[in-house]
Amino acid sequence: MVDTKKLKYLEKIGIDVWIPREQKLVKQTKAKDSPKKLDITRGEQIATMSWEALQLEVARCQACNLYKTRTNPVFGVGNPNADLLVIGEAPGANEDKQGEPFVGRGGQLLTNMLLSIGFKREDIYIANILKSRPPNNRDPSPEEVKACTPFLLRQISLIKPKLILAVGRIAAHFLLATNDSMGNLRGKLFHYGDHKIPLRVTYHPAYLLRAPREKRKAWQDMQCIKKQLQGSQ
Ligand code: URA
Repeated sequence: MVDTKKLKYLEKIGIDVWIPREQKLVKQTKAKDSPKKLDITRGEQIATMSWEALQLEVARCQACNLYKTRTNPVFGVGNPNADLLVIGEAPGANEDKQGEPFVGRGGQLLTNMLLSIGFKREDIYIANILKSRPPNNRDPSPEEVKACTPFLLRQISLIKPKLILAVGRIAAHFLLATNDSMGNLRGKLFHYGDHKIPLRVTYHPAYLLRAPREKRKAWQDMQCIKKQLQGSQ
């Protein structure tokens, strides 16, 4: 990165500075700049990153306080060229320990739900809104979601999935910018973002473990997903 303030100063005193082509000019923000301005600059930087750079950035991220309590960042798992992108909420205790999303009991159920329509974990991509575990599995705070959003947005734009599956209320509400009930959201086809990526919602596997009677509806959701992906071949 190049310090534009320093460049201007050198320009003023008549020194020519050569900037290698691959370096990007990033405006240095002063402490008194508004947080909004800071976010835009960081978001813009992340929006141009390669997959590898993004992984490094997530690993060293300190944009919110969760880095202080996490064991491992949880970037995501699977095939970065997948047709199906599954998006959950945030890592839990097992995910934090292993650095991989959906590996606990709920994760096992999600894996089986996906297997029921012929997808192994390595065929699809699984990510969360938050890349670090909120202590005690509390809901993500709006600040944490805001700080982590650029990472998920970049993952979506690099993966270019044919279908997004939002699992659970938090992921569905975030991706669809709604507060509607899960009962109203599941079973419908939505479209996400400028590229209008088809998006469906299903129950969170942790909820299904508590309410096994709802598994029938989740099974129907998985059938819709299978049909939709077969139709888009
Ligand atoms: N719940 C989620 O939403 N994501 C995980 O990775 C684990 C549990």
